[in-house]
Amino acid sequence: MADALDKGLEDIESGLRDELAYTHAVADSVARYLFDAGGKRVRPLLSLLTAQWGTGVSEKTIIAGQVVELTHLATLYHDDVMDEASKRRGVTAAHKVWTNSVAILAGDLLFARAGSLGVELGEAAMRRQTETFERLVLGQMRETVGPENTEDPLEHYLKVLEDKTGSLIALAGELGLSQSNGPLEYIPAIQGFGEKIGVAFQLVDDVLDLSADEKETGKKVGTDIRRGVTTLPMLLLSEGAPRNKDSAKLLAELEQGRDGLLTEDEFTMAIKKLRFHTATERTMEFARQVADEAIAHLVALPDGLISGALKRFADQVVNRTN
Ligand code: IPE
Ligand code: IPE
Ligand code: MG
Ligand code: MG
Repeated sequence: MADALDKGLEDIESGLRDELAYTHAVADSVARYLFDAGGKRVRPLLSLLTAQWGTGVSEKTIIAGQVVELTHLATLYHDDVMDEASKRRGVTAAHKVWTNSVAILAGDLLFARAGSLGVELGEAAMRRQTETFERLVLGQMRETVGPENTEDPLEHYLKVLEDKTGSLIALAGELGLSQSNGPLEYIPAIQGFGEKIGVAFQLVDDVLDLSADEKETGKKVGTDIRRGVTTLPMLLLSEGAPRNKDSAKLLAELEQGRDGLLTEDEFTMAIKKLRFHTATERTMEFARQVADEAIAHLVALPDGLISGALKRFADQVVNRTN
């Protein structure tokens, strides 16, 4: 199975390299830019794994992996504009190299390519891709606009994670299975697994935003905090602040940093304090719990090599450092 997965990932990679060709010189450079910069290819890997319950890696499962990766890649261009991120995949964010407009257009080009490639998978798969994309965008919209007055901030935050990240990871698993003619009755469990894994993945992403090792994450430390994006460590810190003087002080420091009132060194120090705060420890515990909930979905699927690999995949999501 490992050989089939490696070969499948290579085929996805080389196919995508060909796919990302445009006759316009700027479009060509900008669209390839983040693809060439790296990335973990977590979503295509999940498609190839669930395909093992069907006929295995085939032309269609390769395309399914490419469609989800292209959709993901497109969202990264747009996300970095929205988050005013300076780095992605170890390189300067695309909007900083070109402009916001060019980065937004690059994302749009990739969404269009995901669509034209997805036609090969048939109408039902494309409907699922567009529904998922819509959900992802609504997740980003909810995150941007924030909770409504009556909404609990934690519930709002978890819904954002399910929609912006869980939805596409779940689709990756679903399409891997459906495109390999695997048993359709497995789909609810695969969706449940994928969505929970997506939430755990994003919780860890929130913690990695506080990590000191930019070389590993390939992103600028504190991007979320600088931009005022809600993350679970910040939510838990705010929640505990009225009852704890140290937490209140740290929260005030981080808010000052966000508002440009601290030096870069002071801000970095405050971010580091949050990294080692109980709020972040509790976020990691929660990520572990959500990954366990993902693993619990595997009981509805056949026990064996594939579910073992999915369990390791879930463990890796929580223990990752990039
Ligand atoms: C980043 O996703 C965006 C999130 C949903 C957290 P990845 O961490 O999968 O990014 P790459 O593809 O490896 O760069
Ligand atoms: C990215 O979320 C989610 C999508 C692109 C849909 P984040 O903004 O939290 O991810 P990073 O940290 O920039 O990769
Ligand atoms: Mg971001
Ligand atoms: Mg974002």
